[in-house]
Amino acid sequence: MNSHSERHTLFTREQIESAVNRLAVEITQNYRDKNPVLIGILKGVFIFMADLVRYLDFPLEVEFVNLSSYGSGRQTSGRVKVVQGLSCPIKDRHVLVIEDIIDTGTTIAFLMDYLEKEKPASLKLCTLLDKPSRRRKPVKIDYLGFDVPDKFLVGYGLDCDEQYRNLPDICYLEE
Ligand code: IMP
Ligand code: MG
Repeated sequence: MNSHSERHTLFTREQIESAVNRLAVEITQNYRDKNPVLIGILKGVFIFMADLVRYLDFPLEVEFVNLSSYGSGRQTSGRVKVVQGLSCPIKDRHVLVIEDIIDTGTTIAFLMDYLEKEKPASLKLCTLLDKPSRRRKPVKIDYLGFDVPDKFLVGYGLDCDEQYRNLPDICYLEE
C-alpha cells in the first residue's frame, strides 16, 4: 500500500520541538521533586521519549512497555497484547505514561487499568498526539501536544507497516 500513498507534512520538526518543549515545562512544574517513573509505550514513542527526557532536568526513571493492538497496516485489531511488561515495581511511585498517539483509546485504556492495579502513588498520561474523532474508550489526557485530524500519520516514531518511523516531521499518508 505504501507505494500508492502520497505524503504530506502535518507538523514540521520545528513545530514538534516547540510542543515537546512546552510539555516539558508543564511536566517539570508537577514532577521536579517526585522522582517519577516515565513509562513509554513502544515502539512508536521512542523518538518522542528521547526528545522529551532531554528537556527534563530533574531526577526521573525511564521504563518501556511493549504493547501491540495493531496487527499490521492501518486498522486496529481491537485487542491489546502485552509483548513486554514492566521491569520495575511502581507501587507508591509517581508514574507518567508517555504515548505517541491516542486513537480509539483501546491501547491506553488497557495499560492504565493494568498500571492502576500496581497501586502507584499517582498515574497520569502524556501524549504527543490525540485523534479524538475515533475514540471508543474514554481517556483522560493530562499533557497533550497536538489534536490531530482523522488521518493516518507517520514519522517521528510513528509507522505504517514498520516504515517511516525515521521521518523527522509528522506526515499523513493519502491514497
Ligand atoms: P488505539 O489503541 O486505537 O488508541 O491506538 C493506539 C496505537 O495505535 C498508537 O500507540 C499507535 O501505535 C497506533 N496508531 C494509532 N493511530 C496511528 C496513526 O495515525 N499512525 C501510526 N500509528 C497509529
Ligand atoms: Mg504506539
